[in-house]
Amino acid sequence: MAHEPAPHPSSGISRRRLLGAAGVAAGGIAIGGVGVGVVQAVRHDGSSDARASEDDGPGPATVPFYGEHQAGIATAAQDRMLFAAFDIVAGDIEQVQTLLRQWTVAADRLSRGEPVADPAASDYAPPPDTGEATGLHPARLTLTFGVGPGLFEAADGSDRFGLAAKRPAPLVDLPTFPRQELDESRSGGDLCVQACGDDPQVLFHAIRNLTRIGRGVVVLRWSQEGFGRTSSTTSGQTTPRNLMGFKDGTNNIHAEQTDFDSIVWADAADDPAWMAGGSYLVARRIRIRIEVWDRSSLLDQETTIGRVRDSGAPLGQSNEFDAVDLDATGPDGTPVIGPDAHVRVASQQATGISILRRGYNFTDGVDQRTGQLDAGLFFISYQRDPRTQFIPLQTQLSASDALNEYIQHVGSAVFAILPGVQEGGSLGDSLFA
Ligand code: HEM
Repeated sequence: MAHEPAPHPSSGISRRRLLGAAGVAAGGIAIGGVGVGVVQAVRHDGSSDARASEDDGPGPATVPFYGEHQAGIATAAQDRMLFAAFDIVAGDIEQVQTLLRQWTVAADRLSRGEPVADPAASDYAPPPDTGEATGLHPARLTLTFGVGPGLFEAADGSDRFGLAAKRPAPLVDLPTFPRQELDESRSGGDLCVQACGDDPQVLFHAIRNLTRIGRGVVVLRWSQEGFGRTSSTTSGQTTPRNLMGFKDGTNNIHAEQTDFDSIVWADAADDPAWMAGGSYLVARRIRIRIEVWDRSSLLDQETTIGRVRDSGAPLGQSNEFDAVDLDATGPDGTPVIGPDAHVRVASQQATGISILRRGYNFTDGVDQRTGQLDAGLFFISYQRDPRTQFIPLQTQLSASDALNEYIQHVGSAVFAILPGVQEGGSLGDSLFA
């Protein structure tokens, strides 16, 4: 069972209510990092309400920032994402440490639905909070922070902050996979923040204010907005669909699984011990050639994925959650799920590799060069070690996945996701200890 942080005592007040209820004792709906099961919703007027599940949660729910692991990983995947990657411009590591302390306080406040800071003493100063989330619910906001290879080693190979010896062995630069065409302006980064929640304006507000706090220390390198989660991460959630029209996440690992911890979290026995409780994130901006996909027959589409589009069932089966039978053959003796079908090449059963998929659909309008939609899947995976999980899996997929005809990886990044923070502590404590 993955770690489930305790509900935060003072979470869940909408920003409007917070302002309106000044001076009144207020409670709210809090959900754990896993977000399943019965939770108690305490309204701002003191009445209470038992809810069945917060997995497809309404606006007032909050996810605690503090815990053994950062929120936004085992948390039931919310509907929206805004991912931000930053470059460090400060020359001095103490400034980065200070920023991580400031981000910790800000992330806790934002996760509770509070403004990023208290109002300024004077109206002649710029307001500390930018204001666009005032009156909005917290919408299950989670903020998940990571550090990239550039924190430990500059592009020229130098030990820019004296942290080279602390670089986690699993935080490798990803190899160049066949067919990828990476845009450097949408790749890499020294720090990252994954903001997830159910309201895009709340996410924008969070990233905007974190960026503002970081002025002079970091600059935004790239960001990506995502909608429509492309995976379910708890068994309480229904399986969503990706932009190819297929259910995505059916065979994803779920937070309640007994082996979730060993698949996702770095352990004290791993190298380095300071990462215990953290994880490793791989992000890939994968463009889908939507126009080409839309011209292919349903049969082609289903053969490419290895599942039935509408029901989500594996080919040869009837229901979504029926087991994928890789040995089944048709009357002519050929495999029902072809040798290059996506679910065969990615199969955990066949490869022995599992990852947590937590990606989102994206669209960024029209590609002006081609006149085609710039849309696809912003793939995010969490794992304990990309060297034994994402990299071998993607090596196989890039070599023989039938899906390659329809997709192209155009952005890429890898980050060490810092261990969770206990109240009173700060992001990066174990790194700087
Ligand atoms: C645009 C790109 C992609 C699309 C549209 C896509 C879509 C899908 C779909 C529809 C399924 C079947 C339902 C499910 O079990 O979730 C699936 C399964 C899976 N995909 Fe992908 N996928 C993409 C890229 C990737 C990448 C880059 C990886 C990993 C490197 C990956 C790993 C997996 C895994 C592990 C499974 C489960 C296989 C199993 O054990 O049954 N996918 N994907």
